[in-house]
Amino acid sequence: MSLDLAALRAQFPILSRQIDGKPLVYLDNAATTQKPQAVIDALVSFYTECNANVHRGAHALADEATRRYEHARDTVANFIHANDRQEVIWTSGTTEAINIVANGMAQQLKAGDQVLVTEMEHHANLVTWQQACLRSGAELHIAPIYDNGELDLNAFATLVNEKTRFVSLPHVSNALGTVNPIKELTRMAKAVGALVLIDGAQGIAHGQVDVQDIGCDFYAFSGHKLFGPTGIGVLWGRQALLENWPVWQTGGEMIAKVTYECSTWGSLPNRLEAGTPNIAGAIGMAAAINWFMQLDVNAVQAHEQALIRSATEQAEAFAGLTIIGNASNKIGVLSFVLDGSHPADVGFILDRQGIAIRTGDHCAQPLMRRLGVPGTARASFSIYNSLDEVDALFSALKKAQSMLA
Ligand SMILES: Cc1ncc(COP(=O)(O)O)c(C=O)c1O
Repeated sequence: MSLDLAALRAQFPILSRQIDGKPLVYLDNAATTQKPQAVIDALVSFYTECNANVHRGAHALADEATRRYEHARDTVANFIHANDRQEVIWTSGTTEAINIVANGMAQQLKAGDQVLVTEMEHHANLVTWQQACLRSGAELHIAPIYDNGELDLNAFATLVNEKTRFVSLPHVSNALGTVNPIKELTRMAKAVGALVLIDGAQGIAHGQVDVQDIGCDFYAFSGHKLFGPTGIGVLWGRQALLENWPVWQTGGEMIAKVTYECSTWGSLPNRLEAGTPNIAGAIGMAAAINWFMQLDVNAVQAHEQALIRSATEQAEAFAGLTIIGNASNKIGVLSFVLDGSHPADVGFILDRQGIAIRTGDHCAQPLMRRLGVPGTARASFSIYNSLDEVDALFSALKKAQSMLA
């Protein structure tokens, strides 16, 4: 079954916008995705029909808000094949989810322990572990990539050893689009007894994620990269680990008993969710997941692959353009540099033509240094993009090239 692209696009009100009189061509989906009407409606419905705080109110609105909010947790649990709904911890996004885990690990790591990440990390998964290592005295090791942006699996295999306590890996690189073989990498890490976190910020919107099948211990992702709202995300973790995980923030909701002298913590999932949560965000994220799940996943993947194939073919034929990141298994991310031009200038000229891309280091400064570029221009595709939009990108790039020559 193929996607009915026109019908799908019609569900995203923003896609009919014009920028300076030109149709918006939104190719910045790795930064954040646009929101379908179903998600916008869910947010409006919450605020217009049952806005109240959750878990603590003795009134109808609070009950309804709590029901919708907790139902959203069930939706996430089903979506990622969690063993239990308590394994789904609401966070503000991937970054906070990684911080919860790294903060807890920092209290358990000691000098001589090793933490392994890769050369393709987003800062969220690099700086956080770097700081956890600095706090604990553990060593941070970096698994290298090849020049094409694929992880060097042999080097990875030699870097995981009996001192490796934690491995934290991106499912998909935001800067290069590389899809990592996370199941195999997880297996290698588990074989030496390490815990494994998968940074799923980019992986979550491009297929099916089954945390049981991957075999990892933690999986982190954000609502806004999955057609949902900003400010909401998920830490999934194995129940046995989360039950005893050092608490992240303290305050209301997460306690069992409080005296002036000391406090005890509540049970999962609340013990890791201090304070009033992002209720509307959770409900909106569930609406996004429900919307996404009614699509044919094979058709989604086929469409995204057609987009990146067309983009790659046109990029390869484009004199003066160098693709950064040519992994054999990639999602719809095309990072590139134009000879003699700064990516920011390319982005600016494209923007004048209605084409939204991202330029810069993509929160991956060490990766840019490793690849010998100051930054890249990045077009990232989503299910609502069309092949015509890929063509529009390259016509605009021709213009940019001639203007910058
Ligand atoms: C691979 C990766 N990890 C982590 C993050 C951080 O996500 P957030 O800013 O939603 O917390 C991003 C965001 O771009 C990302 O692409």
